[in-house]
Amino acid sequence: MAYDRNKGEDNLALDQIQGDVLVGLQKDYQRFIAFQIIDRVRFKQFLRNLAPIITTTQKVLEREFTIQLLKKNPNKEVFLFTGVNISFTFSGLVELGLPNLGKIKDASFRAGLPARSAAIGDPTIGPASPANWIIGKSGQNLHGLIMVTGPNGPVVNDLAASILALAGNSLNKLYNEAGLTRRHDRGHEHFGYKDGVSQPGIRGEIGGFFPKHKFLTPSLNGSDPSQASPGSALVWPGEFVFGYHGQTPSNMDAPGPVVEGGIPWMKDGTYMVFRRLKQLVPEFNRFLAELSAKLGIDEQLLGARMVGRWKSGAPLAIAPIQDNPLLAREELSLNDFKFAPDPSARRCPFAAHIRKANPRDDITFVTNNKITDGEQRSQSEADNQTHRILRRGIPFGEDVSREEQIGGITTIDRGLMFVSYQTSIENQFEFILQKWVNDPAFPPSSEGRAGHDPILGQNSGATRARKFNGAAVTYPIGSNQTIVTLPSDFVQATGGGYFFVPSTSALVDVFSV
Ligand code: HEM
Repeated sequence: MAYDRNKGEDNLALDQIQGDVLVGLQKDYQRFIAFQIIDRVRFKQFLRNLAPIITTTQKVLEREFTIQLLKKNPNKEVFLFTGVNISFTFSGLVELGLPNLGKIKDASFRAGLPARSAAIGDPTIGPASPANWIIGKSGQNLHGLIMVTGPNGPVVNDLAASILALAGNSLNKLYNEAGLTRRHDRGHEHFGYKDGVSQPGIRGEIGGFFPKHKFLTPSLNGSDPSQASPGSALVWPGEFVFGYHGQTPSNMDAPGPVVEGGIPWMKDGTYMVFRRLKQLVPEFNRFLAELSAKLGIDEQLLGARMVGRWKSGAPLAIAPIQDNPLLAREELSLNDFKFAPDPSARRCPFAAHIRKANPRDDITFVTNNKITDGEQRSQSEADNQTHRILRRGIPFGEDVSREEQIGGITTIDRGLMFVSYQTSIENQFEFILQKWVNDPAFPPSSEGRAGHDPILGQNSGATRARKFNGAAVTYPIGSNQTIVTLPSDFVQATGGGYFFVPSTSALVDVFSV
């Protein structure tokens, strides 16, 4: 039975939680500045000065409400919102001299991304292996990351420069690169597909800060109060921030235990995964052109079958044969689907990126009980909510040049600054990659024939060649699915790290003393 929201949900400490986590910093341009602490005393002084300008969730929400008002009254002035957030790797916490760090529960965070890279499928040799990353490479001693956001380069670069001046020689800057929304295709990642469409709704009350707004995510689906908007489940906030109720694996709606990180000051903090992912766009396009010609299907449809959505954002689950731009404009319809009506993956291949990364109500584990298909689906769907992430990425690099387009080979670096938030790196970010995306036999309901997620999936074997089942169209009829081999990775890791994002009071009372 759906949880009655009037019974109450966690009160979110909006002034404590950094702003990118639950809502997202407003941004069209973002600087990622990675650093190593070289003078602990001076660095702590810097943190004390930085704390008051950290952009909190309260601040970004206030701005969201302003933006909504501006949309209703477009003649008003548009504000140039800037944002600053900071986070630390495990070795950064050690460098700060914080006690009891062994009590931090998440072993993957303690190990760090380069040590976990092979386990999530990255190559162990060559340019995409952690020894060769641009940032966060093995043994680099990366301590933290400052993110500065805003509407454009000049505004963000000015703010970033003043923050670095404030830091002085307390730190050594290891990396400073910008991400930016695409000039001619805003809101779309570099392969051309609309991004930022599906996010979990987040439970929690905010009335103490904004009396006119009871919940962080209101219920917009009148027929199902366990959903935020149609097709988008409401998830308890402990999945994304420490100190709040998490999910119950056996029940979509019931609050689970309060999620703790292992040390009291982790409350209102969370983990951030940052991955600098290079995208080989001309190679991806060439592959689509060649394979679609061979199979005799439309190139756009083949691409949509690999992603699970058309470039417009319209999902194959609703529009299996051709794009539906009208649907794409209906924000509330873009997620209004489940996979139960598509049990043989005729509409959307099991391995399509969005079906692998969020299987919704697909049967994701086989129980021994002799229960009905519907019961298996609802058990799986409840369990799947314990593996959700909040994605806050932004593209980097310029669009494909004419020369690259003609040659079919990448010569200019571009891709996605992937950022996700979760309270368990092991059970959320890594779980999705290991158990779903990179496992060709997932979901079990595909009878072992799904193959790899063709966008993101990785084959850690020597050749890295991956299998993708579902290139040819079997909707509404057709007997065989087509297994094709994907010759190489279209997405390559080139850097990143696992970070802890402290609350504003932990920054002042714990990290800077
Ligand atoms: C360059 C790399 C990537 C590209 C090009 C990419 C592209 C996309 C696109 C186009 C969508 C559909 C739009 C949306 O729902 O926002 C999407 C959804 C998603 N992606 Fe990725 N992605 C990438 C990396 C990742 C990584 C590293 C993960 C980590 C696990 C991930 C997890 C997800 C999830 C969970 C969804 C939402 C699925 C849903 O709820 O329907 N993606 N991605």
